[in-house]
Amino acid sequence: MEAINKVCEFLTEAGTYYLATMEGDQPRVRPFGTVLVCGGKLYIQTGKVKAVSKQLAENPKAEICAFKDGKWLRVAGELVNDDNRDVKVAMLEKMPSLKAMYSPDDGNMQMLYFKNAQATFSSFTEAPETVCF
Ligand SMILES: Cc1cc2nc3c(=O)[nH]c(=O)nc-3n(C[C@H](O)[C@H](O)[C@H](O)COP(=O)(O)O)c2cc1C
Repeated sequence: MEAINKVCEFLTEAGTYYLATMEGDQPRVRPFGTVLVCGGKLYIQTGKVKAVSKQLAENPKAEICAFKDGKWLRVAGELVNDDNRDVKVAMLEKMPSLKAMYSPDDGNMQMLYFKNAQATFSSFTEAPETVCF
């Protein structure tokens, strides 16, 4: 399986991951669950009104971490805004529960993709495996 799809599958199956951003020199972290591969890019979704969105506009460096079945995954990189409507539609199709809060044309829904991403799968028993995309 292509690396980016493996990362997406892990995050999807984990259900919840934690997204870290920077606010000045203060790290901020919160639970997230949205994830999508579209056009060869790994996307997450948020709302432009949220503090997390404003932090990423100031400083796109971010890291996410998820844990599942004794393995954890960290993805570090930069999160880039993408206003492509098709990507928003694809996210809402994958996670229809989002439709209660977002729509592609609400001016709030935001898709962000990872650029210069380094993803590392780790466990207590196996050597770490790193992939880049
Ligand atoms: C399990 C879980 C998953 C969540 N997934 C998302 C998500 O994918 N995108 C999002 O914007 N907020 C998501 N949230 C809500 C954010 O964690 C919440 O809005 C948070 O306050 C955003 O961070 P901020 O306050 O720094 O802006 C989720 C919350 C929970 C409990």
